[in-house]
Amino acid sequence: MAEKNAGILGMGHSYPEGILTNADLEKIVETSDEWITTRTGIKQRHKAAENEYTSQFGTAAAKQALERAGLKPEDIDIIVCATTTPDQIMPSTGALIQAQLGATNAAGMDVFAACSGFLYGLTMVESMIRTEQIKYALVIGAEVLTKYVDYTDRTTCVIFGDGAGAAVIGPVNSGKGILATKIRSDGRYEEQLYAPGGGTKLGTTHETIDNRMHFFKMKGNELFKVAVRSMADISAEMLEKAGFSVDDVDLVIPHQANQRITDAVASRLGIPEEKVYSNIAYHGNTSSASIPIALDECIESGKITEGSLVLLTAFGGGVTWGGTVIRF
Ligand code: COA
Repeated sequence: MAEKNAGILGMGHSYPEGILTNADLEKIVETSDEWITTRTGIKQRHKAAENEYTSQFGTAAAKQALERAGLKPEDIDIIVCATTTPDQIMPSTGALIQAQLGATNAAGMDVFAACSGFLYGLTMVESMIRTEQIKYALVIGAEVLTKYVDYTDRTTCVIFGDGAGAAVIGPVNSGKGILATKIRSDGRYEEQLYAPGGGTKLGTTHETIDNRMHFFKMKGNELFKVAVRSMADISAEMLEKAGFSVDDVDLVIPHQANQRITDAVASRLGIPEEKVYSNIAYHGNTSSASIPIALDECIESGKITEGSLVLLTAFGGGVTWGGTVIRF
């Protein structure tokens, strides 16, 4: 029997109806549409309502992905939900999504790798499918970041948005699907993007809440340089591993962190702007959801078609990063 690769069989995405524009933010913190646009490329982001939470968006995206893959929830062997903003500490959001889908034969779990989480999930299930330990997986990136953002801190609150994207991964003919994938981390950069309070180190107390320690803190400037270098290096490494040059790539989908990071990664790799997808203007940075949302938008709009060679690269808090080459 010919060896199979793991590939994307169907995708879906979902986000809250609520929108927070730069003009809205001007009323909340000392900032301007001009500053946000020139420094980040973001014009608006989706924002969940009080009664909306992460698993709802993950489940909606997963249902769409299953439908497009022509599979039933019971066909799925594992659900990996990448999230940094779970519904609750326990149980995992993956298990909650499993219940909401009725995926009765699946194991549900979370991957906690910030903005690189979707590529972490893809990389994990890729080998499980290729070695036939499992047949079908759902990899989901789902976030409600706006509930972890401090709306008194203008350096973070302008960046993040909410949403989810999901991919059904299963066996495809060799030569297609995931051709190379790798994930990395370096925890020494912990304080570049972190939420210090609420865990076992600094448990929730009146003091941690008063000091707003359960919200994200970010050293954006330092993160910027590490992000560009890490994404460009792992992209080049994965292209070489898959046996391609940058000229072979039809489309690059980087994690949507900041338009200037995307531009710098493209320029370092020598890939022209028109081959690099960006939706940051209307979604902001949706962390682990950004790559699957962007991928699905590209499939829907016909930017990705049968045979397209696509490079994915991500970077996030941890710090974490990854690169994946896929032939559709
Ligand atoms: N509106 C207006 N001014 C702001 C602002 C805002 N929302 N946020 C910061 N500033 C101010 C700063 O206070 C600083 O003022 P000062 O010079 O008087 O001290 C000035 O703008 C420059 O700040 P700096 O942090 O150097 O700006 P920057 O050019 O690095 O842009 C980021 C800031 C956050 C947009 C940018 O560093 C970035 O995007 N980094 C990566 C972040 C990221 O992608 N994180 C997620 C990784 S997955």
